[in-house]
Amino acid sequence: QPEELQTRIEAVRSELGDSLLILGHHYQQDEVIAHTDLRGDSYKLSEMAAASRSCRTIVFCGVHFMAETADILANRPEKLAQRDGQRVTVLLPDMAAGCSMADMAAIKQVEAAWEDMSEVIDTERVIPVTYINSAASLKAFCGRHGGIVCTSSNARAVLEWAYERGDRVFFFPDQHLGRNTALGLGIGEDQMPVWDPYALELGGNTEAGLEKSKVILWKGHCSVHQMFRPEHVEGFRKQHPGIKILVHPECPREVNDIADVSGSTGKIIDTVRNSPAGTKWAIGTELHLVNRLKAEHPEQEIHFLSPVVCMCATMYRIDLPHLCWTLENLRDGAIVNKIEVDDEISKWSLVALERMLAVK
Ligand code: 13P
Ligand code: SF4
Repeated sequence: QPEELQTRIEAVRSELGDSLLILGHHYQQDEVIAHTDLRGDSYKLSEMAAASRSCRTIVFCGVHFMAETADILANRPEKLAQRDGQRVTVLLPDMAAGCSMADMAAIKQVEAAWEDMSEVIDTERVIPVTYINSAASLKAFCGRHGGIVCTSSNARAVLEWAYERGDRVFFFPDQHLGRNTALGLGIGEDQMPVWDPYALELGGNTEAGLEKSKVILWKGHCSVHQMFRPEHVEGFRKQHPGIKILVHPECPREVNDIADVSGSTGKIIDTVRNSPAGTKWAIGTELHLVNRLKAEHPEQEIHFLSPVVCMCATMYRIDLPHLCWTLENLRDGAIVNKIEVDDEISKWSLVALERMLAVK
């Protein structure tokens, strides 16, 4: 029964007190969000993990790459020194909570792409940028090669950082965030070849295409956000005059270009919060967040941008039974679903993450 699980979860929370920190991403279900200490978008969650002080355990209600990032940041050398070497343990309630976009770029594919492109362009002048939605090994690749991590809330500033240091950017795994951000910097689509890791040669590109590139985009996408289409935007504008369209930059260019506002989940929430009563919105991002905004803002009219259900099935894997099971095991001294990044990968990922945290 949900009520029984809620009571059991709260019992462990009060027993463990400050030694336990439960973090939740905005796409989590309401019933999970209700048990989190802090919630945020990917950037905020990274900052929270980096700042964690008194806790011994972080239970991460989100997806795998977020828990990896929390492990790297919460256990970086300066934090370990403050805690006399004591590590923070990071737990992910369901190990199957991955991210299909992150899975579209494997380290071996990225390394092979780097080597292949180095036959045409000078990779010394290419800055690799990984979206935070990626395995730690890709963040480590960026750390080793003078690159950086970005989130949807700082992608523009990160690309500007990259162009101060190199001539081109290699952006993975989300082609849409990369394209939408580069377009905002005035880069033409003809300077954005897409690298297909399954193409036989040069990621399916010509040598001339790579030579004139400003950003080489990885052929990856979010299966949730690619469902939003320009015809949905047009349909809402026709049926609801005055409606505003608010989307996440993981949406394809055709949607992002015609939206009124585009931004991270944190920006989406702030935009709605700061709008006057009576504002009409059609929002293109994960369903659970849109439904929560609808419930929290009855003074506004909020619609889901797509006629079909777009929810993140992996975020949804974190539910009350998994959360309760993880917490009760922890209380009983059994660690389940621990996320611990390999030392060498952690060291180099941290280089790329710290570069990101320093970009303002
Ligand atoms: P945010 O950083 O905007 O929270 O995005 C995370 C994510 O996975 C969006 O699909
Ligand atoms: Fe990954 Fe898309 Fe889910 Fe975000 S919404 S976690 S990008 S699959």
